Amino acid sequence: MATIAHKRKPLSSKWKHEMLPDLEGNIEALHVEQSLQLEGEVNVIGAKNAVLVTIASLILTEGKSILTNVPASADIVQMLALLHELGAEIFFDENNNRLEIDTTFIRNNRVRPEIMKKMRASVLVMGPLLARFGKAEIALPGGCSIGARPIDFHIKNFMKMGVSVNVENEFLRAYVNQLKPARIVLEYPSVGATENILMAAVLTQDVTTIINAALEPEVIELIEVLKKMGALIKILPPATLEIRGVNALRPIEYEIMPDRLEAGALLLAAAITGGTVSVPNARYDHLDVFLAKLQEMGHVVEVGYENKGITLIATEQPQAVSFRTAPYPGFPTDLQAPLMAVLSLAEGRSTVHETVFENRFLHIRELQKMGAQIIVEGDRAHITGVDELYGTQVIASDIRASCALVLAGLAAKGKTRITGIHHWKRGYEALEKKLQKLGAQIFLEASN
Ligand code: UD1
Repeated sequence: MATIAHKRKPLSSKWKHEMLPDLEGNIEALHVEQSLQLEGEVNVIGAKNAVLVTIASLILTEGKSILTNVPASADIVQMLALLHELGAEIFFDENNNRLEIDTTFIRNNRVRPEIMKKMRASVLVMGPLLARFGKAEIALPGGCSIGARPIDFHIKNFMKMGVSVNVENEFLRAYVNQLKPARIVLEYPSVGATENILMAAVLTQDVTTIINAALEPEVIELIEVLKKMGALIKILPPATLEIRGVNALRPIEYEIMPDRLEAGALLLAAAITGGTVSVPNARYDHLDVFLAKLQEMGHVVEVGYENKGITLIATEQPQAVSFRTAPYPGFPTDLQAPLMAVLSLAEGRSTVHETVFENRFLHIRELQKMGAQIIVEGDRAHITGVDELYGTQVIASDIRASCALVLAGLAAKGKTRITGIHHWKRGYEALEKKLQKLGAQIFLEASN
């Protein structure tokens, strides 16, 4: 294994070639065949959304940090490419999911539109760059397929901390001599805004508070990461963060928590195929409302010692359930599409109310092509369970839609061919291999 050189050098072409092809828009597809009664045990890798923000947070430190349990998924690679462009030295041992990042030589503080467009989470470097250099220049992220996704909460509150912001030609330039502490009130508990402001506040003199903060497990993980670096953060119930600024933070060695969304996908694979699947390292307390809904459908959910390890034993007669997505601890919007796929085969009528993103229903048209009976009324979808789904050609429009279509494909009669599979690769590290291990007929189609 190579170590990080203390001299800036480009990422090797091998690394780029192996990890980034799907982001270039090639025509790979996933083939899924009906695979009933998935059976077995499989662990999940570290949480993608926790890793993305943790990588951004390393900008706050100078020196070499080591992260373990890091998924080799395309979004992570994209974030690494971004940090590399800022000047960080990176070594990613993707076979062992071990990442070394040396942030000593970060000098650049500009994120190009090409990078921003590929991954909205790039905006998360803004807080750390402002805290370390007093300057951040980022291309505006614009909309994406699941909704407008503005960054007004981030900007407004950075301005409260003394930051000057200019927007010109779709480019945002932010400057500050010294960040000042503030009482930040979020009108909505945005995950990204909470994380960004938190990362700016840890190096800001005095006490900053964030009221109505998002408290998703990935935000709590970031708090743990920052505390390990030496930050002083208190969580005051019900949802306030109190941050006492320190002068400097130190590099860390940290193991990323298991991905609750990958765990959800595996348990749903058991549910839709009538099988039994265990995820020994999944955390029950990260999935409470989701698991309650699976139980309400009739599935048996067993939990291991000290909240670790979840097994789902599928019922033969799954019942319809209704739910509404909401910030944590509510039902996670990222599991809405996957559960909807499963509900399309449940007995009765379910209603799904999407309250977090305004356009997170693009998977519905594709599920309908497979025979699902779903009627959309604004931000609500009404699903009437059918006896069978049928394999056909479908297109994944975002990460969680790709998961929904794979799940539907596992239960559908015949073969399902899913394109837009770069989304699958953005969000999951070879999840198709884990499904294969459980007995799924699922294959990647090479692009040439
Ligand atoms: C993060 C997750 C994403 C998850 C989402 C909600 C990452 C990389 N992504 O996204 O997987 O689905 O949380 O749990 O962690 N909003 C505004 N203005 C803002 C910011 C947000 O109006 O400045 C709106 C968004 O458009 C959306 C809602 O707030 O409707 C929630 O967004 P937010 O919690 O910020 O999601 P992300 O951090 O983008």
